[in-house]
Amino acid sequence: MSMPTIQIGLLGLGNVGTGVLNILTHHADMLSQRTGKKLKVKSILVRDLAKYHHYKMPGVKLTSKPEDILEDPDIQIVVEAMGGENPAYGFIKQALTSGKFVVTANKEVVSKHKKEFFELAKQHKVDIYFEASVGGGIPLIRSLKVGYAANQIQSLYGILNGTTNYILTQIGDQGMEFDAAIKAAQKLGFAEADPTMDVSGLDTAYKLSILAAVAFKVDVQVSDFHYEGIESVTLKDIQLAKELGYAIKLLAIGYRMGSAGMVFRVHPTMIPLDQPLAAVRNEVNAVFFVGDSVGESMLSGKGAGGSPTGSAIVSDIVDIAFDTRVRVSQDGNGHRHVVLDGVESPHYENKRNLEDALSKVNLVNIEDTYSQFYLRVLVTDTTGALAKLASVLGDQEVSISKMIQRDMVGNCAEVVIVTHKIKESYMQQALSNVKALSCVKKVESVIRVGLEEV
Ligand SMILES: NC(=O)c1ccc[n+]([C@@H]2O[C@H](COP(=O)([O-])OP(=O)(O)OC[C@H]3O[C@@H](n4cnc5c(N)ncnc54)[C@H](OP(=O)(O)O)[C@@H]3O)[C@@H](O)[C@H]2O)c1
Repeated sequence: MSMPTIQIGLLGLGNVGTGVLNILTHHADMLSQRTGKKLKVKSILVRDLAKYHHYKMPGVKLTSKPEDILEDPDIQIVVEAMGGENPAYGFIKQALTSGKFVVTANKEVVSKHKKEFFELAKQHKVDIYFEASVGGGIPLIRSLKVGYAANQIQSLYGILNGTTNYILTQIGDQGMEFDAAIKAAQKLGFAEADPTMDVSGLDTAYKLSILAAVAFKVDVQVSDFHYEGIESVTLKDIQLAKELGYAIKLLAIGYRMGSAGMVFRVHPTMIPLDQPLAAVRNEVNAVFFVGDSVGESMLSGKGAGGSPTGSAIVSDIVDIAFDTRVRVSQDGNGHRHVVLDGVESPHYENKRNLEDALSKVNLVNIEDTYSQFYLRVLVTDTTGALAKLASVLGDQEVSISKMIQRDMVGNCAEVVIVTHKIKESYMQQALSNVKALSCVKKVESVIRVGLEEV
């Protein structure tokens, strides 16, 4: 009996698309043996055909017409590796509506439109897979969805952006300033020519909203929670953090805050050096989480690059291949036919779909959450300045765990303070009172300290 073939349409042949094509080509026999099916790329969509004229791909059609893939009834899986919200959003919708499985690496489009995609997939008895959209090659989505399905996840902390982690590591290791570290990351291909989405925290926020759906079954958009980037983290803060026993990382944070609801946020965080996330360096990504059955776990690995991301996409294709006992087709009268193991099954439902599980939840505003804070403040070198600073903080119930007077900067003393846990709104009020003090020249840095729920 000949082996069935699953025909794949690839949208995009850049870093990721090429990674996917290479893996499917080089591991064709191994993947067929594992799935019992041939996984064949039939067509590839690019924008500019001339750019790809050197590609030799026997039996593969290179096209600039989306309909060659989206309207091809033989194509069962559409892999979207183009990036950006549009036209990816429309292409994914069209593919799902036509009864095609979709695999995508695109965090922006999944983050913004996941609910609609899940609904469409459910309605059309297919599914959308997005392993590559968070954590590159780390099988995070499948692990959280299936591997840890027996758990209610209590809290999750992720280093989800390789570019920013590389920059923060290099600043600390090489004593570089921020701009030099970005240039080094660009030279090695870790940072885009325009790294704004990475350093502003938006990329991490998109990924957190996806993990919120997968780990906590909660439907959130990035506009629903606080995110900030690493632009204001300095070499000095990274060095001081190390002296105090911490590493600074851009963290995606999600946890349950009792009956108040859930907290999601993204910001630089000082992590104790004995916490496993503190040891995640350079372009590596990691997620540390606590499940009620399994306890503490951490997954880590390469968060980007054509080959690791291709690995995640091919794992999704393999997952679908294991599962494609289902075939969806449309007849000449527009009637949809769902065939399961060769038998018409109109009531078949794909229960892997997250649509049924996803709900709205009360989100706790960052103002109502609690953290420790690290402050670096320049005060004029006058008698009683430190006492005034401590007193103004104390007025807002901010108690000090550590206060260190550092070197003189010009005619100012540099003071480093680590507070005990305090409500965010109290801290913000205390900070504006501190800034108003005549003896305070500048509040140089404010960084949250520790993992709240661990
Ligand atoms: N690179 C990574 O390490 C990585 C890691 C994880 C996830 N991702 C995600 O993977 C996706 C792809 O990233 P990438 O780095 O591979 O991007 P890329 O190198 O820029 O490649 C994009 C590809 O898509 C094609 N394309 C873009 N817009 C198109 C359009 N409107 N119509 C037809 N073709 C279009 C491009 O064709 P032309 O060349 O003709 O324009 C190119 O072949 C993004 O969502 C990204 O966030 C990337």
